[in-house]
Amino acid sequence: MLNRQKTARSMQARNSGLVLFLTVLLGGAYTQRSINASNSSDSSPVSGKRFYIKYGCYECHGLQGQGSPATGPRLASPVFPLAAFIAYVRKPAGEMPPYTNKVLRDEELLDIHAFLSSLPEASKPDDIPLLRDIKGRH
Ligand code: HEC
Repeated sequence: MLNRQKTARSMQARNSGLVLFLTVLLGGAYTQRSINASNSSDSSPVSGKRFYIKYGCYECHGLQGQGSPATGPRLASPVFPLAAFIAYVRKPAGEMPPYTNKVLRDEELLDIHAFLSSLPEASKPDDIPLLRDIKGRH
């Protein structure tokens, strides 16, 4: 009984992973069209942003690489060193789906890394008036 419950639960977990993965793929295909229309520059952070959206990284890591506790960690400032970044995306250790170079080429990954590296650092809580006010009240 316990075993069957466990199996059902792990199947459920696997299915929800599959649904998420398909959502990411379809979401990527959907957004790609609108981005192609607006992209005219070839500089690598700019095409990196395009690939970041095309391959659905933003769905788990946020449009600014800011991350979210529910879906994926922060990727921007500081960005993983390039070699570690590529190694992780090719062979993630946890929940993240792997991207082989059949799906995502090295050049595209370099551009994504350039895009994330181009994002400004997040402001410190003390530099954000609203957060400073809230902190002051405690
Ligand atoms: C379905 C959600 C999902 C998608 C899509 C996704 N990631 Fe992730 N990513 C994660 C999660 C969750 C982690 C945390 C470690 C883990 O579980 O693998 C992670 C970890 C990482 C890490 C390691 C960061 C750290 O601090 O541990 C890098 C680098 C990364 N992702 C890059 C990317 C890139 C680049 C893309 C797009 C090509 C991408 N991810 C797409 C969910 C996702």
